[in-house]
Amino acid sequence: MALNRAVVAAFLVAACSSNDVTTPPTDAGGEVDECKPGSRVTPYVRDKAAEATFPAGFLFGAASAGMQIEKGLTHADWYQWANVPGKVAAGDKPDNGPDAFAHIEDDVNALKAAGANAYRFSIEWSRIYPTRASFDSNTPDKAGLDAYHALLTALKAAGIRPMVTLHHFATPDYLDDITKPREPQTFERDEMAPMFGEWCKRMGKEFGAEVDDWITINEPLVLLVGAYLVGAHPPGPPLDIDRMFNAAKKLVKAHVAGYRALHEADTVDAGTGRAVAVSIAKHNRIFVPLDHCEERDVEAAKKTDYVWNQWMYNALVFGDWDDDLDGKLDGPNDKKADPALKGTVDYIGVNYYGVSTVDATLQLKFIGGVPAYDHLPTDLPKTDMSWDIYPHGLRQVLNQLKPYKLPVYITENGTGDSKDVNKSRYLAEHLWEVSGAIRDGVDVRGYYYWSLTDNFEWDRGFCPRFGLFQIDYASPAKTRKPTRAAALFKQIAEQKKITAATIDGLPAYAAPTPCPGPR
Ligand code: NOJ
Repeated sequence: MALNRAVVAAFLVAACSSNDVTTPPTDAGGEVDECKPGSRVTPYVRDKAAEATFPAGFLFGAASAGMQIEKGLTHADWYQWANVPGKVAAGDKPDNGPDAFAHIEDDVNALKAAGANAYRFSIEWSRIYPTRASFDSNTPDKAGLDAYHALLTALKAAGIRPMVTLHHFATPDYLDDITKPREPQTFERDEMAPMFGEWCKRMGKEFGAEVDDWITINEPLVLLVGAYLVGAHPPGPPLDIDRMFNAAKKLVKAHVAGYRALHEADTVDAGTGRAVAVSIAKHNRIFVPLDHCEERDVEAAKKTDYVWNQWMYNALVFGDWDDDLDGKLDGPNDKKADPALKGTVDYIGVNYYGVSTVDATLQLKFIGGVPAYDHLPTDLPKTDMSWDIYPHGLRQVLNQLKPYKLPVYITENGTGDSKDVNKSRYLAEHLWEVSGAIRDGVDVRGYYYWSLTDNFEWDRGFCPRFGLFQIDYASPAKTRKPTRAAALFKQIAEQKKITAATIDGLPAYAAPTPCPGPR
């Protein structure tokens, strides 16, 4: 299939910013994959099971990322970016967030109160190596190392298994100079892959006795679409699709360098029965044709699904390198089962937030020369991010991962809900679908709710409240207060099941409180 880059670009932008779905669900809340004109949107319908269960040893975790919860990451590109007027809604600054380093005990107590047995967080490169000189001379910041060790010690004492991300959107400013967006930055730089490998090696050595579960890079395609197509992430405009794909290919090399470095450096079993398991946290979603009877829409949805959901994991699991992203391995630079790539993830990490409608006859608008997506209205309930809520898509996304034959962790799933009215239902319905996927034969080993606490939601600032625990940003102590969903999370984690009656007893989705973007 020939890849129309402009069309794919449009859908990638859509994948980052919208959650529209137009598929009528079956009885099981499933997608009808056939030509059936008429109803464009039908909300999720749960299957008829009486309960959803989870196997012994299943991880019920929560997730976070340093830039979103720590104070004082002054050498990160995002810190500089947030200081540029107009880049973050309401001019919010990460330093006014949950201040996690000052609240290690509170956060571990929160995890315990929610019954969590796992916690995903990031170790921030720019905290450990704030300057290029400190990186080149391998002079890590001692206070930074101590803080992460303190967190890991507290987690261990609480019996909570850590999963550590080594790049979660933020890059040290010496590798992303936002004043020079026309020059190669972040993963476009040739030096990035070897430096990232070195960074991973050092962290594997430093923390390997405390950590077995690693993620090299969080949401690689969201990061690059945000930076090079939408411009919502640094280094921002000029926006350019070729630049984005170029960065994506180099990012794969950086991941591979990180994967090998962690395997070399972390040789100690921290308590999981093996020394190391490495992957990425890949944002996957469902792409639904606007019109199942319209061949162009169906084809466009397939192409987008391929580029967004399959291209990267095909390379990392099978070693199938599709350099021209056309879905075939027949290009001059394509490779089948390339040993340099094959087997460079030990499990599948997947973040799930929803579905996108694919319309091959998009009414395009243009952002800096790149076609963007006109949102299509749907009747689905919405989050405060204005994303459609579609729990069954998680089961579909998980089923799509079967060919990889690897264990799967849902490394993120959650909703912004400032009034704490929808979070419980959102959580329960998504976990219901996870259990369904396990019944379908997907080897799902854990689920990390996004997020443990409210945090800095990138260009939307502090408005979206994803936390199982709400932060009182106005209080000097940045008080953590449990949401209703935290209690439900605990109940499900302890009982390893949810009943249909529990979900039926939850309030129906209420209208969201939408959070505006910066512009
Ligand atoms: C995925 C990202 O990894 C995380 O940083 C973000 O806060 C959530 N999505 C919610 O948008």
